[in-house]
Amino acid sequence: MSRAGCRKERDDDAGAIRAVLEAAFGGTTEADLVEALRADGDLVLGWVYEDAAEVLGYVAYSRVEVFRDARTAVAAVGLAPLAVVPDLQGEGIGSFLVISSLGLLKQENESLVFVLGDPAYYSRFNFAVVDGYVSRYAGPYFQALRLSPDAPDAGRVKYAKAFDKL
Ligand SMILES: CC(C)(COP(=O)(O)OP(=O)(O)OC[C@H]1O[C@@H](n2cnc3c(N)ncnc32)[C@H](O)[C@@H]1OP(=O)(O)O)[C@@H](O)C(=O)NCCC(=O)NCCS
Repeated sequence: MSRAGCRKERDDDAGAIRAVLEAAFGGTTEADLVEALRADGDLVLGWVYEDAAEVLGYVAYSRVEVFRDARTAVAAVGLAPLAVVPDLQGEGIGSFLVISSLGLLKQENESLVFVLGDPAYYSRFNFAVVDGYVSRYAGPYFQALRLSPDAPDAGRVKYAKAFDKL
């Protein structure tokens, strides 16, 4: 029986998640970001890939608000960060993390996901640039994936406050 798979993060994963993020990114910025999101209550989903009880990959989704006008906000999520330990990159773990977590988010009635990343990678999960979203991240790397036809296709996108410190 395989012991590898994805699951939601648990409280006692925090140190292993930090280690994965530091190894993948070569610094502490992303690990600090995740801990700030968690502390602020803005982490919607922390999703780990583990094998033999060892955390080897991670993806986080945090709360994002899309303002259709000054008052009306629709809830969305932002994918960041995504990481796989360097030794195991290129083996499909990142894709597995993204595909399985998107499936879960859809089940949990999330309707819209944003990501800031390489379109060459995220287009394989159907993320695409959408011109209607206004964001400080807007540009060729800022992409969205609508999980529901009801999701807004325009509006001002506000990330959780931990992103303001980046
Ligand atoms: C990006 C990352 C999570 C992908 O995970 P992975 O398990 O290596 O990815 P997969 O095995 O599912 O997919 C590998 C494919 O993605 C491509 N790929 C990986 N990183 C990429 C990137 N930054 N930009 C474009 N393509 C990328 C590989 O070239 C490979 O392409 P192929 O399928 O055509 O051969 C992983 O490489 C990583 O942790 N990188 C360092 C941290 C990072 O840059 N995270 C992204 C933040 S948005």
